[in-house]
Amino acid sequence: MCHINKIFYSDNLEIIRNIKKESIDLIYLDPPFNSKRKYNYLHSIAMGLDIKDKTLAFSDIWNINIESVDDIKKYIDDVFIYEYDSAFKCFLNNIFMSIFYSNKDMLGYIIFITVRLYELRDILKNSGSIFLHCDPTSSHYIKIIMDAIFGSDNFRNEIIWHYDGPQGPSKTKLSTKHDVIFWYAKNIDSIKINEEYLYEDIKLKESELKHHGYKKDDMGKWYYDLPRGSYSDLSIKKLDAINRIRKTKNNKIRIKYFLDEGEDGYFIRRKKISDVWANIVSLGLASSNEKKGYPTQKPLSLLERIIKITTIENDIVLDPFAGSGTTIIASQKLNRQWIAIDKTILSINTIKNRMINTFKDINKDYNIVGVPENKKDFFELINNNKLREVKYLILDIIGGIAIDNIENTFISGYIYFNKIKNSFLKMPIIINIEKHITIDNIKNIIENIDNSENKIIGIISFENIGDDIYNHLLEYGYIEINKNKYNRVQILSLENILSDIKFDIPNIIRN
Ligand SMILES: C[S@@+](CC[C@H](N)C(=O)[O-])C[C@H]1O[C@@H](n2cnc3c(N)ncnc32)[C@H](O)[C@@H]1O
Repeated sequence: MCHINKIFYSDNLEIIRNIKKESIDLIYLDPPFNSKRKYNYLHSIAMGLDIKDKTLAFSDIWNINIESVDDIKKYIDDVFIYEYDSAFKCFLNNIFMSIFYSNKDMLGYIIFITVRLYELRDILKNSGSIFLHCDPTSSHYIKIIMDAIFGSDNFRNEIIWHYDGPQGPSKTKLSTKHDVIFWYAKNIDSIKINEEYLYEDIKLKESELKHHGYKKDDMGKWYYDLPRGSYSDLSIKKLDAINRIRKTKNNKIRIKYFLDEGEDGYFIRRKKISDVWANIVSLGLASSNEKKGYPTQKPLSLLERIIKITTIENDIVLDPFAGSGTTIIASQKLNRQWIAIDKTILSINTIKNRMINTFKDINKDYNIVGVPENKKDFFELINNNKLREVKYLILDIIGGIAIDNIENTFISGYIYFNKIKNSFLKMPIIINIEKHITIDNIKNIIENIDNSENKIIGIISFENIGDDIYNHLLEYGYIEINKNKYNRVQILSLENILSDIKFDIPNIIRN
């Protein structure tokens, strides 16, 4: 069978707008929470470094700055490009004004999410479901928006994913240990549900049963009991005949539910899954090889549960904020088709590696769209004003990390290397995009760099490099690391890096 499976390297809005209407069975989205700072920090932790520079793992997340209420109407007109009905626009205006009043910093984020949710509704099948993963700082705003877009009747659950982890330093509040996942159907009358997956088996040892409130009857069978509820007298009579009724001291009728005994000696209680999910361990605590070091990576079992409840084999699952690709790895495992979108190359590469490591022969089964592969692709990006993406991409290929505000900085990022305990060395990277590199350019670069701190320097040239340049570089001498000599100033052309040639430095630290 020919699969739809694709990974898009792009802003998701562009891609979502081009997906066929009513073609997706399940959407799971886990947008970056409302905190830029968190990402930089997490990324450097993931690499085991204490990086003081303003290093960015994700390119900036949303760029909407709303300074006054007048900007709100402008944004609604600019961002919501279709002919929305006037009541919806009026709703947006009012809700955005309220958020501006109560939490100004949140507004850009909510607008960013709202535009995408509106488009996502269109591409969801009538039988489809959408799950949005967020945290308690934004969930109350997002639910109002989802009610308006998907309809409050289609709301299924507010799932609380409760996890454990470090308790947090604050002495003025409790520790926050849950995320919120909103589940909406596109249309409750035609929603697809695999009922069997609404239940789970709880396994208990016999020695634990009493402690958990289970009782043993005269025949030695373990059970729990519940009030009769709406059972008729006739039904109660029938249940009594098969030993399913217990009468309390006050003569109240309760119905017995027997536990099954598994082959392994455990007792099993089949229970409907509640909207509090407390048995899915967060990756912060897990020591498994599931951990990819990607900030905000979610556990596979969380996604598997969602996919099993709402889809069947060959259905199409979309994750527009794919990150480390948890959703699509789970989809592939469960034989669903999938589409992943992410706008950072860090994510695309993590997903690619994760796919290869998890499944054999997976290459035949999917395409990656939008990642430049040759010089022409790079120049096309530059001509489309995507200088920032180009710089990110180059740094990623050579094992570097971008710094904040990358378009406007002289140094684009650093390659960290030679980590010994908590210390490491770093090579600043200067990307020379516009011009043919000359000896004067190089002299200029060296003059502009603080030589005391940057003992080794890397330059990227878009054009090929002549012998005169290589000879000139030798004049800057070398540095010695672990008794080996490395040229102090090094240069790579775009063609070099596309052929996987790397700077000559020892033990690059990368994610
Ligand atoms: C919270 S992470 C997702 C983590 C993911 N659920 C996992 O298990 O690894 C959010 C992701 O959204 C991506 N992202 C942010 N804005 C985006 C946009 N406009 N289009 C596509 N991806 C975006 C970020 O690069 C990041 O990888």
